[in-house]
Amino acid sequence: MKNKKIIAYLTAVFMIITPFSVFAEDNKESLNNAISSAQSEAMLNAPTVISAVKKSGKLTIKWKTVKEANGYALVRINSKTGEYKCVYVNGQSYEWTDYAKKSSGFVYYIKSYVKNGQTKVFSLKTNIKITHQKSVTVPKTPSFKTPNKDKTAIRLKWNTVNCSGYQIFQYDTATKKYKLLKTIKNPKTDNLRISGLKSGTKYTFRIKAFTYDKNKKAVFGKTSPAYSVTTLKDTSKHKIVKKNGITYIDGILIANKTYGLPSSYNPGLTKTTQTAFRKMQQAAWNDGISLWIASGFRSYDYQAQLYQSYVNRDGKAAADRYSARPGYSEHQTGLAIDVNNPSSSFNDTKEAKWLAKNCWKYGFIIRYPQNKENITGYKYESWHVRYVGTSLAKKLTQSGKTLEEYFGITSKYAK
Ligand code: DAL
Ligand code: ZN
Repeated sequence: MKNKKIIAYLTAVFMIITPFSVFAEDNKESLNNAISSAQSEAMLNAPTVISAVKKSGKLTIKWKTVKEANGYALVRINSKTGEYKCVYVNGQSYEWTDYAKKSSGFVYYIKSYVKNGQTKVFSLKTNIKITHQKSVTVPKTPSFKTPNKDKTAIRLKWNTVNCSGYQIFQYDTATKKYKLLKTIKNPKTDNLRISGLKSGTKYTFRIKAFTYDKNKKAVFGKTSPAYSVTTLKDTSKHKIVKKNGITYIDGILIANKTYGLPSSYNPGLTKTTQTAFRKMQQAAWNDGISLWIASGFRSYDYQAQLYQSYVNRDGKAAADRYSARPGYSEHQTGLAIDVNNPSSSFNDTKEAKWLAKNCWKYGFIIRYPQNKENITGYKYESWHVRYVGTSLAKKLTQSGKTLEEYFGITSKYAK
């Protein structure tokens, strides 16, 4: 109803203004403009453009529909050549797909129209302002959080951002330049461990995020400010000395998976160890406990046979958990003794309990305690004692520390 009214009105106006009443947007542009400004200002509303976004070679225009309109004319004019193109659409959006090729010097506008028979009667034009949207958003800059650190390693931590990954740079004091340390192709990764560092030393880092664009090219965000971390000072008061291929820490001979022995090292069960054991045996005897040596000194060759037999029986991985490889057994030091029965059936016997409670008084420690396999490298051995002297045995027993923990050393095979 309303349309009819408008058309009647507009048509009447046309008749007054011009003898020819047919106006097509595509061939009577200037005339139409002149007339439409007069006739439809008050009548047919021009569309309101909601958005006009250019992205990846497409221009998408969205507008609010005009109640009375039968459709819309979308116009593109090449301001250099004057080339004029008009499309008629219904609905509330249109996409110029050939936008990429013709991206500069073009003017766009939209009009609404009502139909009067074969004739279109247009509103005023609404100029279209185009927003150029980049096909990829430049990522934000991540910021470092408080790191974890020890004497020789730093674990950098940062707040993740929306991206495809990160690049970490480390300042090189020699060249006075930042060097790329690592490219992380995972946006969820929020930390990086850097090891092999010097203790008590300042290290400086920067980070930036990147996003891949549609051509798989990395688009980088801004690099973060410099962030410095100082590794912990080496406060270890223990002195490690290597003599004839044997490692001594504060004078204590160390044999474990990290510190091996020369195959020729063949001291037998040392006098000190023998004497200490006799004393302990006597004390146990006085308490009604019988202790004896099941296995004392073991040569390199004997250990080799023993270890191989366990590997044959249980496989290498399993054997490594309870038997030392040749050259790594504490039994080759002449300072270790397996008491009574080297088997888990010795655990919880009154002899094992007595040994655990009293061996420190004679300079021995239970060398491979329970729940310390990841530290000593071996499963619990209630029967294996190691002579370390009464003073250290007392300290270790009171603190509950293993030799590895006390000296701050590892027990891991190199390969
Ligand atoms: N059972 C211990 C770890 C050794 O073989 O020396
Ligand atoms: Zn043993």
